Amino acid sequence: MTNTHPSVPGQEWNASGYAQNANFVPKLGSEVVKLLAPQPGERILDLGCGDGALSERLMQLGADVLGIDASEEMVEAARQRGVTARVIDGHQMPFDHEFDAVFSNAALHWMLDPQAVLSGVKRALKPGGRFVAEFGGHGNVAAICTALIAALQFRGISVRGRHPWYFPTPQEYGHILQTVGFKVDSIELIPRPTPLPTGMIGWLETFASPFLHGLDEDIREAVLENTLTLLGHSLRDEQGNWSADYVRLRVSAHA
Ligand code: BEZ
Repeated sequence: MTNTHPSVPGQEWNASGYAQNANFVPKLGSEVVKLLAPQPGERILDLGCGDGALSERLMQLGADVLGIDASEEMVEAARQRGVTARVIDGHQMPFDHEFDAVFSNAALHWMLDPQAVLSGVKRALKPGGRFVAEFGGHGNVAAICTALIAALQFRGISVRGRHPWYFPTPQEYGHILQTVGFKVDSIELIPRPTPLPTGMIGWLETFASPFLHGLDEDIREAVLENTLTLLGHSLRDEQGNWSADYVRLRVSAHA
């Protein structure tokens, strides 16, 4: 869920903030777990496991799971649940044809070199092994990104290097999968407007720090306020409930 690449500046992970503001992320993982269809005894790598909520679910279904994440704090949170977890950058996985499946939920959009990641996934899998993942696809959080960019530009702040995410089209991602040797079984974009339990401010505090990295506190506050005003027009309903304009890319492929 949180496998951050070191080249994404300013993103900090806080397990309790994540649990409070983003506990809907693993809850929405049921469909991709169903697509994975883990079998008892299978050895499964959870790539970008975050706090291990879905790794734990895979374990409960009988799989032998290793979770990996680039955030030490998240790996520690996963271990607290009893998940075997290691701090590993998804761009530099050391595994060699040892997993029946590689699974990933809400993490791959943080990994900005998909060719390196998918080469590592392919190498990690036994022949015929499955890769099943869901993450942000083309158009994901488009309104949120546009509002953040507008609020920064309004103050003359350059957005260069601040957009931290990779949201590919199915065509682009399918092509990369094929170039590293996968056969794609299914790949689709799924629009999924998602209610935010702690509002847009909770979401921005948890996920949008790369946009606000290095700003003085008063400027940061002003950019956030401006972003909320812009987004209220499209992502807040008449009762004041916020949602995020999520678009998932769900993919199943085999080695
Ligand atoms: C997502 O799950 O789509 C997402 C999470 C954090 C930042 C951007 C996107």
